[in-house]
Amino acid sequence: MNYISIDLQRTLGVLDRNMFGGFAEHLERCIYGGIFDPDSPHADERGLRTDVIAALRRLRMPVIRYPGGNFVSGYRWEDGVGPREKRPARLDLAWHTVESNQFGTNEFIEFCRLLGTEPYLVVNCGDGSMREARDWVEYCNGTQDTALVKLRRQHGYEAPHKVKYWGIGNEVDGPWQIGFKTPQEYARAVTEFGKVMKWVDPDIKLIANGVSHWDAADFVERGQLLLEQAAHLIDYLAVHWYVDNDTDDFKTYMALSELFEERLSAYEGLIHALKLERKIKRPIYIAVDEWNVWHRRQMAVGGHEAVIYTLEDALVVAMQLNAFLRHARMVRMANIAQIVNVLAPIVTFREGLLLQSIFYVFETYSTLAGPLVLDIHWDGDTFSVDDHTGLRVLDVAATLDADKGELVVFVVNRSEQATETVLKLVEGEIVRPVKLHTVTSAHVKDYNTVTDPARITTKVTTVEVSGARVNVPLQPHSLTAIVCTVD
Ligand code: AHR
Repeated sequence: MNYISIDLQRTLGVLDRNMFGGFAEHLERCIYGGIFDPDSPHADERGLRTDVIAALRRLRMPVIRYPGGNFVSGYRWEDGVGPREKRPARLDLAWHTVESNQFGTNEFIEFCRLLGTEPYLVVNCGDGSMREARDWVEYCNGTQDTALVKLRRQHGYEAPHKVKYWGIGNEVDGPWQIGFKTPQEYARAVTEFGKVMKWVDPDIKLIANGVSHWDAADFVERGQLLLEQAAHLIDYLAVHWYVDNDTDDFKTYMALSELFEERLSAYEGLIHALKLERKIKRPIYIAVDEWNVWHRRQMAVGGHEAVIYTLEDALVVAMQLNAFLRHARMVRMANIAQIVNVLAPIVTFREGLLLQSIFYVFETYSTLAGPLVLDIHWDGDTFSVDDHTGLRVLDVAATLDADKGELVVFVVNRSEQATETVLKLVEGEIVRPVKLHTVTSAHVKDYNTVTDPARITTKVTTVEVSGARVNVPLQPHSLTAIVCTVD
């Protein structure tokens, strides 16, 4: 038997909805054939895929990171603005392909505006210069009569784009990156890039690379140098991770919650310690600006290959979102990598698109999470695997919308058995009925395909209850969002 005990007064803080952000890179068919596909029957007059936009709207992403990723470390933003016929094709050394530059800054901003999402641009801190970075900020956000602002106006954009979020480089800690940097080199670069970018527009928020290469022995030093040298400029430190079911063992896969907790706690501790020691008063938050499951199993979708997301992958995505919620004081942005076709909840083909299992999980959180995150207590059945003993079978997080009187408890049942869970309020009452939004399937390896697209979706059921205590049936290997009206 499992129980979840909730004191509605015990809040962890306000939820920053940027936690439900996305990421779009010039990689494979994310931009071309995903977002931008002029030859598609679904394209609008700008070449944007309306079916993709409609699906993305359901995910209510408040922010999308662009244009990379590894791609950005060799990208010249100037190539992607102005008349399309004049844009140069360039070698892309990140992914060993040719970039046509038919989609660039202004197309991306238009796409974001259609979605009602904030653009988050990453500048090239690989083979790019400080000058290019500051020019890009000026081109996008400038208001004075400079050559770059006139250029933007000539390109059809009279008003500044007001791009608020700017990243300095991508995964510079990885030897795989064009322009890999040592901790010292990167801290210097951020200090100088950030300084001039904020001189151009003091209202922007800067995101510096924290860690993506978790096996390297220098991520503490990287964070330390960045905060020692550039704490007056940085608003977020970025961490990245991708996980996989390496051993093909369900229990081991479900124990990845411990890795997420370990990494977030360690990085929070690092920031807190440095802020204390260096007397840094400005808020500096964590942006998990690339995260997801990434394995190599693929399926054919309309003649293209796409990474498969099974039910068990969807549960791991849910555990990552639960971890972000539990660390909501510090995790103020997270960007699922990516949004379409590449490691994605949405896969396009000529006639339409396929929604993968992770789409339904992401949609459940993004649409149901309330503005306050609760600090909750839960206990019950446990499992053990490798170094981990006594892991609770349930993985839980909760939010509250005090105005609506709506409590939402996100529960991942990591057991292959159905279980009943007692949800009890320390004070107050649950007013019936309780709605259960459940994502599951008969087998953990199930996934959606073009011929069976609705094997995994969200099912909504109702449980009749009243009082401070409710028994909630949880299906085997499932995510359940328990939506309660509380009094
Ligand atoms: O999302 C795919 C790639 O993964 C990104 O380009 C890079 O930043 C990461 O290693």
